[in-house]
Amino acid sequence: MDVRPLGKSGLNVSTVALGCFAMGGRKWGDDVRDQDSIEAIRFAIDSGVNLLDTAASYGPGHSERVIGRAIRGIREKVVLATKVMVSFQDEDEVRLSLEDSLDNLGVDCIDLYQVHVPNRGDMDANLRVLEQMEQFRSQGRIRAIGVSNFSTEQLDQGREVAQIDSVQPPYSLLWRYVEKDLLPYCQRYGIAVLAYSPLGQGILTGKYTGGVTFPQEDSRRPNFLFQPKNIEDSLAVVDAAKNIGQARGNTAAQVAIRWILQQSGVTSALVGAKRPSQVEDNLGSNGWELSEDELQQLNKISQQVHDRRAITVPENLMLWEAVPDPFSESTRRQIRQQYLQSRVVS
Ligand SMILES: NC(=O)c1ccc[n+]([C@@H]2O[C@H](COP(=O)([O-])OP(=O)(O)OC[C@H]3O[C@@H](n4cnc5c(N)ncnc54)[C@H](OP(=O)(O)O)[C@@H]3O)[C@@H](O)[C@H]2O)c1
Repeated sequence: MDVRPLGKSGLNVSTVALGCFAMGGRKWGDDVRDQDSIEAIRFAIDSGVNLLDTAASYGPGHSERVIGRAIRGIREKVVLATKVMVSFQDEDEVRLSLEDSLDNLGVDCIDLYQVHVPNRGDMDANLRVLEQMEQFRSQGRIRAIGVSNFSTEQLDQGREVAQIDSVQPPYSLLWRYVEKDLLPYCQRYGIAVLAYSPLGQGILTGKYTGGVTFPQEDSRRPNFLFQPKNIEDSLAVVDAAKNIGQARGNTAAQVAIRWILQQSGVTSALVGAKRPSQVEDNLGSNGWELSEDELQQLNKISQQVHDRRAITVPENLMLWEAVPDPFSESTRRQIRQQYLQSRVVS
């Protein structure tokens, strides 16, 4: 497995990383089983994956606890990345969130601690959390600092108060908005880029062919890419990935992941999975290269899909933009309440 530097942190991470969002067990359908998740994590580690990405809000806390169980005895083999609660409000909450994550994961240091979603209305709140993360780093409670869903303007300000080692944006053949500003920016300043939802939450595997409806609470339901018109539009890209894959003995998922890893500026693709068979398929993206001609075919078709979209997308917009404001004050309050309840239960 190839590894690349995680910004200036001194850590090296595998180019294919395991995303553990679905392992939170909620919001991802009724086929998420802790035993499958644990086996998927161990299979990934045994196959050379060292970066595991999770968040306090996945579950909430459940994804971290599952990872904690899976890495018992093999902690030194992994780079653990988690994120502060999206609903953080003040320094006490940030500290509590870190302590809960350490506890859930069963470790005394988190390798990469990330701001999950910037507070869009209050940049000072983002700067305060980044300053606090620097304190955690000097106390040895975390090793590296990352941000997610940040724009280059927010990064400019953030870098004044902290060394930001990585950025985590949505990036795939179906969502390429980071190419304009964020990727060049990160290259210029030596910041690692961890691409999330690289399979378009499953669409690029070719398994969703339109007409899919998720239950109300499912995280994919409000995802821009799963809106019926957008799924239909994406099929041309999925077909291109399938055809290129078929011709060379790879799956569409492998081609989609490989495409990301060949984009300059990208460090790792955070690929989500629910079970070992999915991890195994996704790891088939490692150890080979798409040709220039194949890259161009994929670029052209995905660009056509992009160009057809009648939306203007600010660079830090999330895939859930179909919801008017997924991180409005009321949503933040709701998430916070769920989180506090889960602390009482566990
Ligand atoms: N920072 C953020 O705001 C943010 C947001 C989203 C994600 N992330 C991170 O990025 C990671 C990856 O993104 P994601 O999980 O949203 O989406 P993704 O990686 O694009 O898709 C993952 C989902 O696709 C399906 N899948 C994966 N491999 C497959 C295969 N080989 N064959 C068939 N189906 C397959 C699985 O769901 P089904 O089996 O149900 O189809 C899996 O849960 C997350 O786990 C998380 O760590 C971060």
